[in-house]
Formats: sequence, C-alpha cells, structure tokens
Amino acid sequence: MKVAVLGGGPAGLYFAISMKLRDAAHDITVFERNRPDDTFGWGVVLSDETLDNLAENDPVSAERIREHFAYWDDIAVVHKGVRTLSTGHGFCGIGRMRLLILLQERARELGIRLEFETEIDDPRPFMAEYDMVLASDGLNSRTRTTFADVFKPDIDVRKCKFVWLGTHQKFDDAFTFIFEKTEHGWVWAHAYQFDDDTATFIVECGPETWEKFGFGEMSQQESIAVCERIFKDHLGGHKLMTNANHIRGSAWINFPRVLCERWSHENIALMGDAAASAHFSIGSGTKLALESAIALAEYLHTEPTLKEAFDKYEDARRLEVLRLQSAARNSLEWFEEVERYLDLDPVQFNYSLLTRSQRISHENLRLRDPEWLADAESWFQQQAGAEDNAARPPMFAPYRLRGLTLKNRVVVSPMAQYKAVDGSPTDWHMVHYCERAKGGAGLVYIEMTCVSPEGRITPGCPGFYKPEHETAWTRIVDFVHRETDAKICAQIGHSGPKGSTQLGWEEMDAPLKDGNWPVLAASEVSWSEQNQTPKAMDRNDMDMVRDQFVAAAQMAERCGFDMLELHCAHGYLLSSFISPLTNRREDAYGGSLENRMRYPLEIFHAVRAVWPDDKPISVRISANDWVGDEGVTPEEAVEIARMLQEAGVDICDVSAGQTSKRARPVYGRMFQTPFSDRIRNETGMATMAVGNIYEPDHVNSILMAGRADLVCLARPHLADPYWTLHAAATLRDKGVTWPDPYLPGRDQLYRLAERAEQMTGKV
Ligand SMILES: Cc1cc2nc3c(=O)[nH]c(=O)nc-3n(C[C@H](O)[C@H](O)[C@H](O)COP(=O)(O)OP(=O)(O)OC[C@H]3O[C@@H](n4cnc5c(N)ncnc54)[C@H](O)[C@@H]3O)c2cc1C
Ligand SMILES: Cc1cc2nc3c(=O)[nH]c(=O)nc-3n(C[C@H](O)[C@H](O)[C@H](O)COP(=O)(O)O)c2cc1C
Repeated sequence: MKVAVLGGGPAGLYFAISMKLRDAAHDITVFERNRPDDTFGWGVVLSDETLDNLAENDPVSAERIREHFAYWDDIAVVHKGVRTLSTGHGFCGIGRMRLLILLQERARELGIRLEFETEIDDPRPFMAEYDMVLASDGLNSRTRTTFADVFKPDIDVRKCKFVWLGTHQKFDDAFTFIFEKTEHGWVWAHAYQFDDDTATFIVECGPETWEKFGFGEMSQQESIAVCERIFKDHLGGHKLMTNANHIRGSAWINFPRVLCERWSHENIALMGDAAASAHFSIGSGTKLALESAIALAEYLHTEPTLKEAFDKYEDARRLEVLRLQSAARNSLEWFEEVERYLDLDPVQFNYSLLTRSQRISHENLRLRDPEWLADAESWFQQQAGAEDNAARPPMFAPYRLRGLTLKNRVVVSPMAQYKAVDGSPTDWHMVHYCERAKGGAGLVYIEMTCVSPEGRITPGCPGFYKPEHETAWTRIVDFVHRETDAKICAQIGHSGPKGSTQLGWEEMDAPLKDGNWPVLAASEVSWSEQNQTPKAMDRNDMDMVRDQFVAAAQMAERCGFDMLELHCAHGYLLSSFISPLTNRREDAYGGSLENRMRYPLEIFHAVRAVWPDDKPISVRISANDWVGDEGVTPEEAVEIARMLQEAGVDICDVSAGQTSKRARPVYGRMFQTPFSDRIRNETGMATMAVGNIYEPDHVNSILMAGRADLVCLARPHLADPYWTLHAAATLRDKGVTWPDPYLPGRDQLYRLAERAEQMTGKV
C-alpha cells in the first residue's frame, strides 16, 4: 500500500512505524513542515501501561524510549507555602524532542521516507495519489478544516491561558504543582522532570489575571521574566526557557478541546490531536496519539477493506478517547475553577487536586499512599470534632448543625413511598423508615410530607395536617430515637403544579384517572399538556399555604423530628416560584431572582419562627433546570444559596432538575455533585450532595475533597437499608454501631469480608 502521512508528530511517525512493521512492502512517506530537530514543547508524560502497549507493538523503539525515561512516583503540591507530598503515582517522562528523534530514527531504519520542511496546504492531491492518507497534522489540523463538513469538529476553546516553558531547576523527586498568589491573582505551574537536567514548567492562570499582567502585549522574553519573578522561590536561581521561538509574539495559548463526529473520509483518516485533544494536565495527548496509531495500523491489516478498517478504528478508539477526554475535562475544569478551592486547608486542597479528574478515588489513593491518606483522614476527623482523631473514612466523621450531632455523614435521601392512607403513614412507613434508621446512616429523611390534602402529590402521599398523622409519625420517630442512634428529618412540601397525580409506579406525574383536586402554582403554567392548569396564587392563597407550612412544622416538632427540610426543588409549589420557567408573575414575586425567592423565603422565615432554635432547617433546591440560560443555572444556584444562607438556612440540599419537561440532564456518576461543590466553595454554606452516588468511595471522596458536608443516597437505600453498615464492613471500619440483636450477623460479615480479601491477596 502506498501511504502518505501528513504531519510527523508522535501520531504520524508511530503510525508509519506500526504499518511498516506489519508489512515491510508498504511504501510510506511522512511529510512534516518543521526540520527534524525543530520541535517545540518539552517533556511528554507516559504511563507504564502505555509503555507496555508500545513494547508489544515494537520492542525496539519501546526499549530506546525506556532508556531515556525519567521516572517519578510522587506528586508535590505547594500551596499557601506548604509543600505536601504524596507517593505511589508512577509517571514517566521523556523529552518530546528526544521522543521524536527516536521515532524518526526508527522510521528511517524501517525504510520510511521522511520529508521535512514540507508544508501541506491541501490534503486532496495526496488522497488522489496515495492509497491511504493519515492526517496527523496536530491541534490546528488543516485536513480537519478542509473536510470540516465531514468530520464535524467541535472545538471548545477553554478559558485559562498557559505557556509551555522549560527549566534546568530540578523537579526530579516529584511532579510538582505550585500555586502562587500575585498582585493580579493566582498563577500556578505544573513542573516535571523529563531528562537529567531539564524539566517542563507550564505556567497557567485565569483570563483576568492574564489580562492584568498584560501578558498578551509582552514578548516571550518579557513574559518569561515575569514568570521567573512569580516563581523565584521555586526556581533556585535557574532561568525559565522557551523553545517556541518560531511563534511570533506571545506564546501563551488557550487549550482547544477538539472533538470530531467522524475521523475518516474516503481514503483519509484523522489521528492524534487532529482528531481529539486531551488537556495537558492529565498528560495523555501523546498516549492517545501512540495508542491510536497502533490500533489503526492493526485494523488496516486485519480488516478486508479500508472502510471496514476505518470503521473499526473509530469504534474501538472512540470510547477510550471519550473516557480520557471526560477525565481531562474534569481536570481542566478543576484548574479553571481553582480559585474556588485555594482557600481550602492545604490537606483538603491537595486531596481535591489529586482526585480532580475523578479517575483516582479515595481507596485508590489508599493503595498509592496509605500513610498520606491516613494523615488526611485523621485531619478530617479532627476538623469534624471527632472524639478521637484516629484515621477513619470521612463518611464516618460526625457532623454538627445547631444542637444536632449526626454520628456520620450518610443520609437516607427523601423518597416518596406512595403508601399513605388519607395522608396517614401506615405500617409500611413504620417498617421502612425504622429499617433504614437501623441501617447505619447518620440521618434518615422521611419522604416529602405534605402540608395539606391539596398539597399532596398523589393520594398515597403522607401529610402533617390531621391529628392521626401526628400519632403515626410520633410512633416512627419514637422508635428511631429509642432503638437507634440515627436522627430523623421531616421534609415538608406542597406539590403545587405537580399535585393530583398518579402513584410513582403508575403513570408518574400524570393526572389521576378520577378524583382530581384543583392545584396551585406561582403562575398558570401546567406541568405538561395533560396536567391541569394550576391557579396562580393570590395573596390569600399565599397566606393560607404559609400558615399550612407553619402548622406542619409545629406538628413535626410535636412528633419529635430532629430536623426539618423545606422542599423547594423538583417543580413542586415553592420550586415553581424559584424557576423562571414556571414563574411568569409580574408582581413582587416574579421576575428577578430576588422576587422569585420572596415567597419561599417568607415560608422559611415563618417556619423558622416556630421551629426550635437548636434544631436545624435545610432547604432542597434544584440547582439546574437543565435547559440552559432560560432556567435556573448552576451559577444562579449559587445566588439562590447565598440568599438562603443570609436568611439563616443551615444547610442547602443540592438536587437538580425535575422542574421542566424540556430538561436535558447530563447523567453520570455523582452528576449533581459539581453543583454542591460550587455552592459550598463559593458561598461557604454547608451543603448536601445527591444524585447517582452509590459507592462508599464516592461518598468518601466527595467529603474529603470538600465538595459537600453530607451525602444523600436515595436508590441505594431502597436496595439496601443497611447500606452504611455494609459499607463499613467493606472498608473494615469497626466504629459503627449495630443493633444488639444483630451482632452475630455483624461478626460473620466482617469475618467473611476479611477472608474474601485474603483470598484475593489484598491483605
Ligand atoms: C506548543 C505545544 C507544546 C506541547 N508540549 C507538550 C509537552 O511538553 N508535553 C506533552 O505531553 N505534550 C505536549 N503537547 C501536546 C502533545 O504534543 C500532543 O498531544 C501530541 O504530541 C499529539 O501528537 P500528534 O502527532 O497528534 O500532534 P503533534 O505532536 O502536534 O504533531 C503534529 C505534527 O504535524 C505537523 N504539521 C502540522 N500542520 C502541518 C502542515 N500543514 N504541513 C506539514 N506538517 C504539519 C506539525 O509540525 C507537527 O510536527 C504540546 C502541544 C503544543 C501545541
Ligand atoms: C422512589 C423515589 C422517590 C423520591 N421521592 C422524593 C421526595 O419525596 N422528596 C425529594 O426531595 N426527593 C425525592 N426523590 C429524589 C431522591 O431524594 C434523590 O434526590 C434522587 O433519587 C437522586 O438520588 P439517587 O441517585 O441516590 O437515587 C425520590 C427518588 C426516588 C427514587
């Protein structure tokens, strides 16, 4: 096959090598615009795993690469003058120039033609002349632009500015992140050694800081002088160097995240940065390029046609690329928002940085550096006010809100049971809630309990409006207090426009087949076309419902609940005031956020006035309507939280969505946690995270990284009332309390867990 490779970076060269190794008869030419040793950039990071893949593909070049590797195991974070070191991370680096020269040598040996100083303006003549063309022409790929209508690139230019520099200062003991506060804002560096006497030193900052420094107007040497001043304490008198002299003006760039819908067209395929880029902070650009090169070369030899090989290449590589891009996105977003975290304690800041891509979990850190993690865990217990500061997973740290102390950070999230009769909880509720209280969670929520019959979601929803409700709830609360050390919280709410609907397992949110009751809302906006149009509340309605909330709170207090939550989320009555999608009012309760929050806050103040001082109140919000700027955005949610905080709400329960049929949520593990993180770290308000959090590892990493104070799990508690006790057994934490009659079960569970670990060789 006659093959043209456009661009002689890692992707192009390694593809040429991989092709030639599979069939020496291929006639391959690599066209590169630069000279052989003209490369920019400094060190490239690869993992041991990538090296193993390379060795399998071509032991010769892998061995030469390995000979030139700098290895390091530690990550150092310098923040607020404190240098924190953790180990077990295992990276290796090689100079980009060294890597390219090794690959060029290997390509020549195998009989590949390398044409340097050849600028390719248009790939089409090559497509006509060659059997196959590889477009590996980098981040600003001209081929991708030529066929933009086929490849459909999506390029997201990110906001931070960065510059690739090098230095002879040694960073040979650790991959080092340095955060410096300057007169114009925070500037940080990512530094790592890649050969005996050179390290990469990437300097990065937010756009405002960059503007204030005036870096855009400076020459490269002027920029470097400023960076040397900022990082002088870490450079030991060494200079910073650029090798981007071919770039005119400032060498600062914004990272463009490249995605392409397709990677091939006729006889040409895209590869490496041209097809998909991954932010440098997870060091995977070169890895992606090299592994894609192996995959395509392989499929071109196993598949019968070019088209089938290209299809297989796209299928097989896309998933891996998306996975890495997702980790890279988490990581780059963390750096974009780093100013939010810079006030955290150095221990928590370090943890947050290490877990930023969400590829490294709490237990993963324990494997990497048990000592460091133990110290961090014991710091967490200490700042939580634990009686003894011994290291324990953060989920088992106590938490205090007003006069309420929770034994741990796990919360059974409110979940409607649809099993009430005339608003009265039944034996179902007794068994259901008491089981969960026995199951180890620090706090058990009851489902949304309604302030009036019309405020119910369904005929199966419970209430706080009849004397028999009080009797039934009191029985449940008494059991929880008598037999367990869990606390119990009442969530009170009014269904508003989503009321008078069917049970959860019937047609959810659809009107009743018969016996509908009239519904209220902020405005005459129905939940869906089939739901009834609610009445827009007038002042009388507002006073009546406010008084119902107050009466419900008083009943919850008489029942003995430890905490109260106002349900202001998910499209119910109070949520219908907050979201601009459902609030069309033109009076003092509609329009600006201040107006939309007015009624929910009136209710809060009225309820707070009758709720005992030493008991906390939380408010659940939908922090994202998932409809873009037309609805509540995570940014607006921060303002909502600020208003709640000012009003005296103790903790914000950060949920999202269910406010509009038009919502397009982006699901995933812990997908709502970023909203809690943002609120907590931008306002300082305590938060609870919820939403697809299901593993102990998720809970521990959320807490330890300071992304929430409490973690709610809903569906996991439907599947397992003893979720917390089981999590403790898995983590071999023995500090949890089991009910006395169940102790033999506990002992057996721990024995079995230990035995299973021994069998798998973990101990
Ligand atoms: C300025 C810069 C510095 C970098 N430094 C580092 C670093 O220090 N460490 C690290 O891990 N990663 C670094 N990266 C990222 C990393 O280089 C890429 O992720 C990885 O090299 C992808 O390989 P590639 O072959 O797809 O692209 P590239 O390595 O970009 O290779 C593309 C090649 O195509 C050539 N080319 C482009 N257009 C044409 C044309 N029209 N005609 C002919 N030739 C053309 C280019 O000269 C280049 O040699 C850097 C990226 C940039 C932009
Ligand atoms: C069956 C069921 C009923 C729910 N009822 C309520 C409720 O009454 N009040 C509320 O605020 N959230 C309710 N939710 C939402 C949960 O509290 C939680 O926010 C959501 O399920 C996401 O958490 P998860 O991924 O852990 O399930 C309910 C969820 C489920 C699955």
